[in-house]
Amino acid sequence: MKVTIVGAGAVGASCAEYIAIKNFAEEVVILDIKEGFAEGKAMDLMQTASLNYFDTQITGITNDYGKTSNSDVCVITSGIPRKPGMTREELIGINAGIVKSVSANLLEHSPNTILIVVSNPMDTMTYLVHKTTGIPKNRIIGMGGALDSARFKYRLAEALSAPISDIDGMVIGGHSDKGMIPLIRLATRNSVPVTAFLSEERLEKVAADTKVGGATLTGLLGTSAWYAPGAAVSEMVKAIALDSHKMFPVSALLEGEYDLNDISIGVPVTLGKIGIEKIVKINLTESEKTKMQESAVAVKKTNGLLAL
Ligand code: NAI
Repeated sequence: MKVTIVGAGAVGASCAEYIAIKNFAEEVVILDIKEGFAEGKAMDLMQTASLNYFDTQITGITNDYGKTSNSDVCVITSGIPRKPGMTREELIGINAGIVKSVSANLLEHSPNTILIVVSNPMDTMTYLVHKTTGIPKNRIIGMGGALDSARFKYRLAEALSAPISDIDGMVIGGHSDKGMIPLIRLATRNSVPVTAFLSEERLEKVAADTKVGGATLTGLLGTSAWYAPGAAVSEMVKAIALDSHKMFPVSALLEGEYDLNDISIGVPVTLGKIGIEKIVKINLTESEKTKMQESAVAVKKTNGLLAL
C-alpha cells in the first residue's frame, strides 16, 4: 500500500509516524508546500525505523505531486489549525482553497485513490471535496468521529476509573464543539452500559468534556492536537489497507440515511479496501435524532459559506 499525506505539519507527521509504526504500508509520501519541510520530517522519521522496527519507506517532497502517483490512500491535513479561542469553522476561508487545489492535484496523479479529509472545518471540507471532485462517495472519508470517540472513551475511563481497553463508545454528528453527539446510551464497560455505573450528572460532564476535547487541548498547547488525530487517521488507513471491515464514525455523504441529504457528517460506517463499504444504520432515540438534525443544520450553515 502507498499512502500520501499532504501537510507535513503536526497532524500529518504524527499520522505518518503511526502508520509506519503499525508497519502495514510499504510506502508513505509526505508532501508540503514549505520548502524542505516534508523532506526533513521524513528523514527524521526514517531515522526512527531501526529503533521502532518498521520497514515502511517514508519520503518527503516539496509540492511535487508526480511523486504521489498511484497512491492507494491520500490523507489531506494541509491547512491552518485552530489557535486558542477559535472555532474550527473560522478556518474555512483559507482551508477551502487549500483543500480544493490539493484534492485536484492528488487525483490528477492517483485517479483511483481514496481521500481522507482531516483539515477543518472537516465536515465542510469533506463536502467540498465531494462537490468539486465528483469521485464516488465511498472514496471520500472525513476524519473526526474516530478522534472524538477516542476522546469520549478517555473521558469515560476517567469517570469510571477503568482501563480504557474496557470501554466502548462512539461519537456521531458534526465534528464541532456544539455539533458532536457522544452516544452515552450505547457506551459500555465490558458490555455493561455505562449508565449502570455513572449518574446522569456525571455522564453529562463526560459528554461536555468530550465535546470540548479539541478546544481544551488547543488552550493547553496553543495550537490544535496531533497525537490522537494522527493515531485516528492511521487506524482508518489500516482498516482500508487490511480490508478489515472495521466500523468507525466518519464524515460520509448522506443521501437519505439518518433522514439527511446533501451533507457530509459523522455516521458509523465500515471501512475496507474500497473505502466506505456501507453506512451503518443505528436506531436513534427521538432526542438523539433531534441532536443529529440540529448538528446537520450547523454543518449546512458552514457549507453555505463555500463558494461552490
Ligand atoms: P500545521 O500548521 O502543523 O500543519 C499544516 C501543514 O500544511 C503546514 O506544514 C503547511 O505548510 C501545510 N500546507 C499549507 N498549505 C498547503 C498546501 N497548499 N499544500 C501542501 N501543504 C500545505 O497544522 P496541523 O496541526 O497539522 O493541522 C492541520 C489541519 O488539520 C488543520 O486544519 C486542523 O484544524 C486540522 N485538524 C483536524 C482534526 C480532525 O479531527 N479532523 C484534528 C486536528 C487537526
